[in-house]
Amino acid sequence: MTQAAAPVITIDGPSGVGKGALCQRLASRLGWHLLDSGALYRLTALAALNRAIPLDDEAGLAVVAAGLDVQFVGGSDGLIGILLEGVETDATLRGESCGNAASRVAALPAVRAALLQRQRDFRRFPGLIADGRDMGTIVFPDAGLKLFLTASSEERARRRYKQLREKGLNANLKSLVEEIDARDERDARRTVAPLRPAADAKVLDTTQMNIEEVGDWALQLAFQRLAAPEGPLD
Ligand code: C5P
Repeated sequence: MTQAAAPVITIDGPSGVGKGALCQRLASRLGWHLLDSGALYRLTALAALNRAIPLDDEAGLAVVAAGLDVQFVGGSDGLIGILLEGVETDATLRGESCGNAASRVAALPAVRAALLQRQRDFRRFPGLIADGRDMGTIVFPDAGLKLFLTASSEERARRRYKQLREKGLNANLKSLVEEIDARDERDARRTVAPLRPAADAKVLDTTQMNIEEVGDWALQLAFQRLAAPEGPLD
């Protein structure tokens, strides 16, 4: 007898829309595992920069992606720390320059192919919250619940600014808006796995909403889905 796959909730959307905070909230509320797929693209970019592999060397980057030595570890505050080749990387990894390098690397089909199975391996009981751009379309097309968040680029830049400042990182609001626009453009226009909602995704514009409201919306849908795995959603 084959065992049914663990349930998955996918949360996709552009950078700075608040997916990370929502995913952490859902994962801790449901007691599920969490996949931060953006971190894998960021780690690939960082590992390539560390080894002086150019960001357009597709074959070289795919080798880096396939062999990433990465560990996700729970910190004392419950947050996940990320070790690349045994070294704590969080601050560099979360910076805008790493995000931009990740978005270049993520446009290369061989890199995406190299990371596909690694992402699917995160699917474990009791369930998985998957955060990314193509979780509902490519990585987990059979997910029971697919959410897609949007917000204006100005609002996303404001949220990113606040987040970076809270982490003690340097940030400039005007250049953040420009970087977010450029990154969205690249993520949405690439030929492989472009940023777009799955046909069966629930889409929410969060521009005027706070994290509690977005969390309540998502949790309500999650509970509906868990109660009726095949039923329609409100
Ligand atoms: O979500 P985050 O900002 O960490 O992602 C960094 C970059 O990685 C994104 O701009 C995007 O280009 C890429 N990415 C992707 N597919 C995913 C997650 C991230 O292409 N599932």
